[in-house]
This record gives sequence, C-alpha cells and structure tokens, in this order.
Amino acid sequence: MSAKIIDGVAIAKAVREEWKHRADKLKVRGILPGLAVVIVGDNPASSMYVRNKIKACHEVGLHSEVHDMPEDVTEEMVLRQVEELNSNPKIHGILVQLPLPKHIDANKIIEAISVEKDVDGLHLYNLGALVTGNQVFPPCTPYGVMCLLEHMNIPVEGQHAIVVGRSNIVGKPMALMLLQKNATVSICTSKTRDLKQHTLQADILIVAAGKPKLITANMIKDGAVVIDVGINRLDDGSLAGDVDFQGVKEKAGYITPVPGGVGPMTIAMLVANTISAAERISR
Ligand code: GUN
Repeated sequence: MSAKIIDGVAIAKAVREEWKHRADKLKVRGILPGLAVVIVGDNPASSMYVRNKIKACHEVGLHSEVHDMPEDVTEEMVLRQVEELNSNPKIHGILVQLPLPKHIDANKIIEAISVEKDVDGLHLYNLGALVTGNQVFPPCTPYGVMCLLEHMNIPVEGQHAIVVGRSNIVGKPMALMLLQKNATVSICTSKTRDLKQHTLQADILIVAAGKPKLITANMIKDGAVVIDVGINRLDDGSLAGDVDFQGVKEKAGYITPVPGGVGPMTIAMLVANTISAAERISR
C-alpha cells in the first residue's frame, strides 16, 4: 500500500483563505490585525522562518513588522522591546522567534509577552489553558497538526497517538491537544528505550525529535498516520524530516512530506491566532 500524501501547502492555503474572511470582517469595522516578530541575531533558519511568516501576513492583508535585534543585545533590551509592543495598539500578536542566544533567558522573555498578544501560545498562562482544555492561543505547530488531521477527516478519538519529542513548542502541547480530543496518548523521546516497540503501536505517529530519519518503515504499523514535524538541514544542504519518507510512505496510510507538510501549517495557524487575538480584543 502506498500512503496518501497530506498536502500541507494546499491545506494551509485553504486555512489562510478561511481566516482572511474573518480579517476582512474586522477591517470593515476599522480594525487591522497586526503581528510583530522579534528576532535576535542572524540564524539563517530563523531568518527564513520569519520571512515566511511575514509573507503569509501580507497575503492575508495583515499589518506586520519585524524587530531585528543584534546577537549581543541585552536581555533588558529585548524585555523593553516586548513591553513596547505590549502597549502598541496596532499590534495584536507578538512572536519572539526562538531560539534566542544563550545569554538571554527565553522563558523570561516569553513570560513578558502580554497574555492577550501571545499568538505563539507559549506563555505559561496559555500553556495552562491548554492543560485545562480552555485553549486560547494553541501553539502554532501542534495546532497546525490538529488542523491537518481534521482537514483529512482522520479520526482522533479513541486512537492511540504517539508523540515522539517533548519540547515545549511541539511535543508537550501536541500531546495535550490530542488528549483533549480523546486520543490515547503516549509520549516518547529520541532517548526512549526500544523506541520501535512503542511506535509500532501507533495509529497516529507524530514525530518532532529533530533527528533525521529517526523513524523507518519497520517502526510503524501498516496504515498508520505519520506526521513529520522535523525539519533537518543535511550536510548536502537538502531538507529532511525525522521520518524516512521514501520507506515509510510504502507502509503508512497517510504521511506528511518535508518540506510541504507541517511547516506551512505552522505559519497559517500563526495568521489564525493573530486574527483571533484582534477579534478577542475588539469584541
Ligand atoms: N522557532 C521554531 N519554531 C518556532 C515557533 O513556532 N515559534 C517561535 N517563537 N520560534 C520558533
């Protein structure tokens, strides 16, 4: 059997169009949703992600601005920038691109973002809201994965979902969102003993471990839904996910490619959260 390929580019486009209608309704009322991105240093991957985020905002007609700060900026200056954006009425969403340089405490910066503008969904309050099932701004990548599953009509309730990866941005919120939809959820990491013994049980396997080709065909069951969140730059300059796509696609029921799977959805959900933030503030 060859898997159905989940087209994240097409689904992200549909999601952006859906949210554009909501942004247009706000504009009629004189409200232009605005996103501010703070980026520190010149990590090429981060710069590319930020460019793509800004491009998506333009496509949907949102206001967006980038605040570039040098690598040696002090924590105090980043905090001041965030506070300025917190009180800027043109800005409804604030995203501080991660990772930050080591001398800056990322948690401290994230906690400084106003809860109402935390469109990345990484503030303790918003993560807490996810735990209690009252999500406000779900973190964009797991939100995008849930949206892919919904668009493909893939049932979640009662399914055994296994998440490989325990990051605050993807793995942990992903597990909570699947649990909220009544999946039976297991969390593994790249360090899990005999990972294969676990992954073979998965009806839905979500991989966000940052290890190229961690998951091979012999590690999944026939017909499984395989969602690859990994984006790894290989030595030859090409991009690869955490899943051996060529092998696994022959055995899975559904699979996301890299690139063109989860990546575009992360950006579409950032647009969605920014418009949602503007709606909430103008209710
Ligand atoms: N770096 C990689 N992914 C993300 C993300 O979703 N949010 C932020 N803030 N930084 C990231």
